[in-house]
Amino acid sequence: MNMLTTRRAVLRIGAGALAAPFVLRPLPARASGPALPIPALVEPDAAGTVRLRMAGGRHSFVPGQSVPSAGINGAYLGPVVRLKAGGTATLAVENALPWHTTLHWHGLFVGSDLDGGPHNPIAPGQTWTPRVTIDQPPAMTWFHPHLHEDTARQAHLGLAGILIVADGRDRERGLPDSHGVDDLPLILQDRRALEGEAPYAPDALDFIHGFRGTHIAVNGAVRPTAAVPAAIVRLRFLNGANARNFLLRFADRRPLHVIASDGGFLARPAAVDTLVIAPGERFEALVDFSDGRPVELMTLPDDNGRFGSGVVDRLKAAVTEALAGEEPVMTFAPDPALKGGVASLPAGLDEPAGADPATASRRRRFVFDERVEANLKALQEAGVSAEQAGQMVDHSAHGAHAGRPMAAPAPAATAASLGITMAMAGEPFDMGRVDVEAKLGSTEIWELSTQEMAHPFHIHGASLRVISRNGQPPEPHLAGWKDVVLVDGKAEVLVRFDRPAAREKPFMFHCHILEHEDAGMMGQFVTV
Ligand code: C2O
Ligand code: CU
Ligand code: CU
Repeated sequence: MNMLTTRRAVLRIGAGALAAPFVLRPLPARASGPALPIPALVEPDAAGTVRLRMAGGRHSFVPGQSVPSAGINGAYLGPVVRLKAGGTATLAVENALPWHTTLHWHGLFVGSDLDGGPHNPIAPGQTWTPRVTIDQPPAMTWFHPHLHEDTARQAHLGLAGILIVADGRDRERGLPDSHGVDDLPLILQDRRALEGEAPYAPDALDFIHGFRGTHIAVNGAVRPTAAVPAAIVRLRFLNGANARNFLLRFADRRPLHVIASDGGFLARPAAVDTLVIAPGERFEALVDFSDGRPVELMTLPDDNGRFGSGVVDRLKAAVTEALAGEEPVMTFAPDPALKGGVASLPAGLDEPAGADPATASRRRRFVFDERVEANLKALQEAGVSAEQAGQMVDHSAHGAHAGRPMAAPAPAATAASLGITMAMAGEPFDMGRVDVEAKLGSTEIWELSTQEMAHPFHIHGASLRVISRNGQPPEPHLAGWKDVVLVDGKAEVLVRFDRPAAREKPFMFHCHILEHEDAGMMGQFVTV
């Protein structure tokens, strides 16, 4: 099929009711690996509605093998929803799953009554229809379930998608904007099981460190190849993994020119050699493929949680071996048949106005608390062996998961069933407890600190700017408005409370390692 025809077809389907979430594009003859699946682009229909149907299915991450999955308008992941800045849309979310769910608009500026946090569950068979007005700068946001104590499993099954706020001015900005051609959405995830019936079977260690897999998937395909024009291409990265940090870099070290982060554009492109992206975080980067050469995008080992004293040598050796070196994420293969519209980088972009830390009305402190002592005790009571429990304290042991055979799936457990609790507001999360009252429209300085490992901080209905991490000012690509920041030690962020949250439906702030969130590393705030 001809590229343009495919793209028009995507747009046309998108205008209708339910779009198939993925359209496969043919690869140039020389490329190897599966073609990168491109999520369909969906815009509101004539009535201003976007239909999103959450349902179960089966998905193949590699040809010939499949696992149970769930998706939005399809069997795995969802479409790219594009909403116009300043516009209004009804998001009709149908729950065709056999369990309760929610759909949270991560990064969208809407009041908590319109956001699918834990206080807005959708029962099986029901449709939830928030009507949202888009009042924020252009940005790449996303959506995923947020049900109390059941977010990690649902997200891992595939319930996630990208939501782009656009103002139609990207051509004027000199940015690539042809969806699926020179503007590619890339949802990065990792998987442990590519076949069998239990794709998400976490054990005690997974709740402690977050569930990580050994296979890296992009848009639901393992190590895919994207055909790209020999030009400048816009890559929209979303880390949609439950726990893994990606440390992206090109095999030939060509730079990634970051143009936007969670909250919108940066003032100017910021070149990086390695792009670290934590769960929930987004970056848009321009990459120059005009040399016409295929190139692999790699990720460096994510050793988060692998540290500390009392290292068991034999495990350390195994882990070091398993984690040595980078691994391929995907390949970009320039195709002379594809036309790209952009040949040079923009000099500057329209960054949304900043905010002055001097205006902050107060300071608060939060600790990402793994509650190691309490959890060890709970696990021992639950019959987890001393050896396993010991490995838990020795965080380096967890990397051994990477080489663990999948033959015997771990029993399906939840943080609650194992008695594992974590906290970030002093006590583990409680739906009925409000932890923070913030003045709507105000800014505050939040001081965040970690103990045992790095944690990605995220806040709903608010934007943040990094003031410092471990005493250092943010690198240029981390200096814009964000809603996720990876904290490893101490961070100071300036939080601006953008949208209202009444007492009946508080907003959340939490660790975006989803197992930690489910275990209670989350607090609630309301605006006053
Ligand atoms: Cu992306 Cu509270 O979540
Ligand atoms: Cu969120
Ligand atoms: Cu965490």
